[in-house]
Amino acid sequence: MRTDRNAGGRKASLERERTARRPAALRNLRQQRPPSGRRLLPRLGKEISVGANQTLLEALEAASVDMIFDCRRGECGLCALPILSFEGELDHRDVFFSAAEKAGNTKLCTCVSRVYGASITLDTADR
Ligand code: FES
Repeated sequence: MRTDRNAGGRKASLERERTARRPAALRNLRQQRPPSGRRLLPRLGKEISVGANQTLLEALEAASVDMIFDCRRGECGLCALPILSFEGELDHRDVFFSAAEKAGNTKLCTCVSRVYGASITLDTADR
């Protein structure tokens, strides 16, 4: 019989299991070099900055962009935005897009992927 007393323990156990399944590259995201460059959202007339300990998704939320997301681990693809243009290096850290899709650099999972370089322009048509 299930009781509410065990709910906290089950939740903690599930979170430990999910963390253990997370690829090492995602676990270490915040320990990598900080993102750099400009992030432009022309449909919203916004330019946002991403802090050293912040994901692009977190920066978008802080800028009041109405984002859609779920896992925040690069698994579901809900946070992905179309890339209109970029200069620099894209670091696709998700496990949602295929290698070919990542190589095409047409979308970016904002919860885990990073941009290093001059700028990236993202579309927010559905936001
Ligand atoms: S929220 Fe699931 S891939 Fe970003």
